[in-house]
Amino acid sequence: MKLISKTSKGLNGELKIPGDKSISHRALICASISEGTSTISNLQESEDVVNTLNSLKQLGISISKENEYYFVEGKGFNGLKESENQLYFGNSGTGIRLMSGVLSTQDFSSCLVGDESLSKRPMKRIIEPLLKMGVNISGSKEDTLPLQITPSEKIKGINYEMPVASAQVKSAILFASLGAQGDTKIIEKSISRDHTERMFEYFGANINYSETETTLNDTNKFISQDIEIPGDFSSSAFFIVGAIISKNSNITLREVGMNPSRIALLNKLIEMGGEIQVFNHSSFGKEPIADVNVKSSILNPCEVSSDEVPNLIDELPILFIASSFAEGISSFNEIEELKHKESDRLKAMQQGLDKMKIKNFLDGNVFCIEGMGNDYKPPNFLAETFYDHRIAMSFAIAGLNSNSAIEIASPESINTSFPEFIDLGKKLGCNFEIS
Ligand code: S3P
Repeated sequence: MKLISKTSKGLNGELKIPGDKSISHRALICASISEGTSTISNLQESEDVVNTLNSLKQLGISISKENEYYFVEGKGFNGLKESENQLYFGNSGTGIRLMSGVLSTQDFSSCLVGDESLSKRPMKRIIEPLLKMGVNISGSKEDTLPLQITPSEKIKGINYEMPVASAQVKSAILFASLGAQGDTKIIEKSISRDHTERMFEYFGANINYSETETTLNDTNKFISQDIEIPGDFSSSAFFIVGAIISKNSNITLREVGMNPSRIALLNKLIEMGGEIQVFNHSSFGKEPIADVNVKSSILNPCEVSSDEVPNLIDELPILFIASSFAEGISSFNEIEELKHKESDRLKAMQQGLDKMKIKNFLDGNVFCIEGMGNDYKPPNFLAETFYDHRIAMSFAIAGLNSNSAIEIASPESINTSFPEFIDLGKKLGCNFEIS
């Protein structure tokens, strides 16, 4: 199967973007380990989130759906039951790393597995701190999947200075800390997304957090809650850039998550000259939301510093596309972490940019893109996506401003985070076809 993205006449109209992936995982997990029944609305129904949902069901949690509401019957921190089979997390680093934290303090064993891509991703980053807490956890010889967790005598809180900025690692530690004795303190060099901290607070945890320091004191239970999930900013990012690079565009996206640790792309695009208005500010639980209006714009190049990278991490591929249509050289500092995502995203994007005839190169640890301006129309080509959803969507958006079309290989990967992408894109005026 291929997705063909043809030149578009402009994106127009308004949409409500489906729920945020990071928050959806956390909502399901926190509801499952709370006491009582929680409801969740606007849950992201992507493969990644469904895998977490199914794992929780395998662990004895009853989850049902009525109209747009999911009902999760929480069983408390110690109410999960041993799964008869391995727990499968598909493509999702978030699902497997967060659930490793939860399963670390249970009185039964678990085996956690994933698809080919997830099976290659580094797990040492969670194994190391969890071992320090006293968890019995091991991976393969290379510290990859499968992850085996067996019950431990005593698990204690930890004082941990994070070697990499990673919300997934921070969250694995926080979930494990719920069942540990003593307090946990996590210190980060750069700011990573804080959805876990906000969700823990919402469920009644004794948690304090600033941008780079999180402390979790003895929390003995979560109380069930009603949760409304904000629109996914990372999904919105594709249409935001699509509208900017396509002439005659004017779109409005409603109730988009505006968590400050997620929206660096918005600020970067505004800095570059993007015509973006953010309005109707409000919140869902502890998470800020707003509506976003975007019009076709002429972009200047950008400079991304290393401390901005964690906040932009999932949006770098689409920012590379935006930079390709800016006039001049954009630079991205220390984007190493891109190599450890669902694919080696640096390599995947370089290959595609080469095919777009956009000059790009690494200067030490600075990645540079020579943007050709908005009148540039890349030639037809087939973009390899390495079964990575964000690579597929990035080149699908580039196709909107192409000479005639860009073809996208294995677009099925898009279902891991944004199954509605093609249909919603078409509604806005994207010229997408499946062949
Ligand atoms: C996520 C954190 C990020 C991000 C991923 C979702 C999360 O990963 O890339 O898509 O929900 O915590 P890292 O924290 O490992 O950088």
